[in-house]
Amino acid sequence: MDRIRLRGGGPLEGTIPISGAKNAALPLMIASLLTDETLTLENVPRLRDVQQLFHILANHGTDWSVEGKRAGQNDMTGQTVHLCARAIVDTTAPYELVSTMRASFWVIGPLVARMGVARVSLPGGCAIGTRPVDFFIQGLEQLGAEIEIDQGYAIARAPNGLVGARIDLPRVSVGATHTLLMAAALAKGETLITNAAREPEVVDLANCLIAMGAKIEGAGTSEISIQGVERLRGARHRVLPDRIETGTYAMAVAMTGGDVTLEHARGDLLTAPLAILERAGAEISETNRGIRIRRNGAGIAAVDVETDPFPGFPTDLQAQFMALMTTAKGTSHITETIFENRFMHVQELARLGANIHLDGQVATIEGVERLRGAPVMATDLRASVSLVIAGLVAEGETTINRVYHLDRGFERLEDKLGRCGADIERISG
Ligand code: EPZ
Repeated sequence: MDRIRLRGGGPLEGTIPISGAKNAALPLMIASLLTDETLTLENVPRLRDVQQLFHILANHGTDWSVEGKRAGQNDMTGQTVHLCARAIVDTTAPYELVSTMRASFWVIGPLVARMGVARVSLPGGCAIGTRPVDFFIQGLEQLGAEIEIDQGYAIARAPNGLVGARIDLPRVSVGATHTLLMAAALAKGETLITNAAREPEVVDLANCLIAMGAKIEGAGTSEISIQGVERLRGARHRVLPDRIETGTYAMAVAMTGGDVTLEHARGDLLTAPLAILERAGAEISETNRGIRIRRNGAGIAAVDVETDPFPGFPTDLQAQFMALMTTAKGTSHITETIFENRFMHVQELARLGANIHLDGQVATIEGVERLRGAPVMATDLRASVSLVIAGLVAEGETTINRVYHLDRGFERLEDKLGRCGADIERISG
């Protein structure tokens, strides 16, 4: 299993190209199941989760191909992917394929909408909470599907097609919004989703569906209305830049000091985290190339943060921000409101010398003078990268085990940081 070895050092200087967003690419790829024509996606990141989803979609009968360069080459531009589900040959998404990635459960929406039946293994994914699927099931039932849970599978049936309905989501759910949006696009009549997720990735999916012929209004607000259509067609769509990757590198620069341009990044996708970073002492500006982040030697101030659905501070940046706060001047509090078990990085950061006290959903971080390198291990994607951020300033050597978590969501992380002066390498095997 690969490891990452880091030696804490000086500031980061240079340019980091920001990839297409993983959490937009995944639902966009799944949307290809809604049509028998080709969906072409540009700027798809080279990630393990994307690769895994190719396998899942292929199992349903999707033909896919990738244009251009492959991972391992120097080119940092995203890949262009063609997906064509001309005929759905299998409406089952089996456990072996679905268990490692929660987003693969989302195929249930397009499959039942187009084929009238879907049998999808209940999901796995990052171990950050119980992550039930009750909103998906209730929502699909409201659209007229019959749902049965049998031997670890959710089976949805709607032999006469789905019918538009009003769906009030009990709380904001990104995945349920994506799934119900896709299902409602092919339902008969009008659907209204209230308390919908407002995340930019939902807007990206809606824009792609509109290009495919769907009639959708209100994406990006908490009320989305969808007028179902009989069929959708192929389209070409560019995946938006990854706001979590952007925020992660912005925090890395805030941590080490330096001056880095995050190329292709869009500030409007992460207003809340950038405002917090400014309060902590980073200088941020938008340029025609992306976002420039600078910090001089003055150090970082402690700032309190609470995670919230978009446009709030994203839970997917909580671990990274905690790493930053470990060496801030003073005491900060981080409250996690989205997932009940998303503090697994705390004990690993403590191994590097961080002083963190956990009380339920609130972490209190007393900034320390310095961190010291150690072997660490993380159990989810964003937790792993928080250890990279800490390792960038820790004295001596930090080894991060189980790098496959990082490979699920960060494209060529060690290359991108290495080019900006970080002392970082991947050790294979
Ligand atoms: C998406 O997960 C993201 N994943 C997550 O990113 C992200 O942390 C999360 O949204 C919140 O922003 C992808 O986009 C692939 P939710 P999702 O449904 O859709 C509860 C990463 O690191 N809930 O918005 O699975 C749920 O348990 C990943 O890239 C129910 O109770 O999250 C959670 O507490 C990790 N019942 C809350 O809602 C349901 O049926 C929000 O989850 C569905 C959700």
